[in-house]
Amino acid sequence: MALVCVEDYEKEALRSIPKNALDYYRSGAGNEFSLSLNVEAFKRWRILPRFLRDVGGVNTACNVLGCRLSTPIGVAPTAMQRMAHDDGEIGNALSAGKIGGIFILSTLSTTPLEEVAAAAPNTIKWFQLYIYKDRSLTESMVRRAEKAGYKAIVLTIDAPYFGARRADARNKFKLPPHLGLLNFQGDQANSVKSMEGSSGINEYVTRQFDPAITWTDVSWLVKFTKLPVVVKGVLTREDALLARNCGCKGIIVSNHGARQLDSVPASIEVLPTIVDAVGNDMTIMLDGGVRQGTDVFKALALGAKAVFMGRPLVWGLAVNGQKGAEHVLELVQRDLELTMKLSGCVNISDITQEYVAHESQFSK
Ligand code: FNR
Repeated sequence: MALVCVEDYEKEALRSIPKNALDYYRSGAGNEFSLSLNVEAFKRWRILPRFLRDVGGVNTACNVLGCRLSTPIGVAPTAMQRMAHDDGEIGNALSAGKIGGIFILSTLSTTPLEEVAAAAPNTIKWFQLYIYKDRSLTESMVRRAEKAGYKAIVLTIDAPYFGARRADARNKFKLPPHLGLLNFQGDQANSVKSMEGSSGINEYVTRQFDPAITWTDVSWLVKFTKLPVVVKGVLTREDALLARNCGCKGIIVSNHGARQLDSVPASIEVLPTIVDAVGNDMTIMLDGGVRQGTDVFKALALGAKAVFMGRPLVWGLAVNGQKGAEHVLELVQRDLELTMKLSGCVNISDITQEYVAHESQFSK
């Protein structure tokens, strides 16, 4: 049967990936309340279409943090993509390039950042950073990303430790022996497969990531790198204001795909308050639960300038490598174009708050 939407890819992927990897990709923290909320919360917003507007040609071109894009849809950083398919990070980077969207590479990638850059020179790439206890290692990653042509540093701030992902603990998750964290060398590259505890990735993070970082370290990074700094994981207006005051250029409103603290709100629920606080000063973006064109449209209407998808690209890779990832992005891109046509928006800048209403407005 033809695969026509992200849900189809998800169902197909669930059948094909080994349990250790599948649970790692799929799961959220705790009892996964926020995981389902990320998708459900989009349904609480309705689209208010306008008609007779000449929608013969729609254009999704946009400018995000100085990057000229053909689409506001991009690929979120997800760790260890070669567990899903050997095309891994390079496959996803090429797919993002094909639709003209941003690809964000994870620090915890199974392909070195330089190899991804060399294989996908025409894709706009950003590098996602975790701050390690070993500051010289952190610094060297930033310099390597700058040198390899990445256009922004995306600092993930919601992971001083990794969340309680029960499935990984049950499976004693480990990276398969033929893969490594290839932005590193030696023991660092191989440690997620040699740990003895409950979840290899959680142990790795506890040993390596610096849980003592504060906004002072964000200011340090902003001064240290010549690239714009985007903070990923902001869920409150207070942290949005602090990010702005530290000189960050952008925010990705995100709950890390609901993998950190369960019971946090869905990203789309807190987007309006963050846009209200700093939307005129910074580029606000969103990830979490984006699965179709209407989701992208709703996030843009509420003030996001770009959206990113995490798991859908892993499902695409798992089903058919790079071709699967490309198809997933194409499906959501075509769905965004159709949503624009059916709601009377020709350009991305036409998509404004007046096109959406929260369901609470209809129950008065
Ligand atoms: C992630 N995410 C993530 N974020 C990050 O900053 N660095 C990382 O290495 C990872 N790794 C990672 C692995 C997997 C398997 C998932 C599912 C997620 C979070 C990711 O960037 C993004 O915030 C979410 O995936 C967005 O939610 P959806 O699209 O998966 O619903």
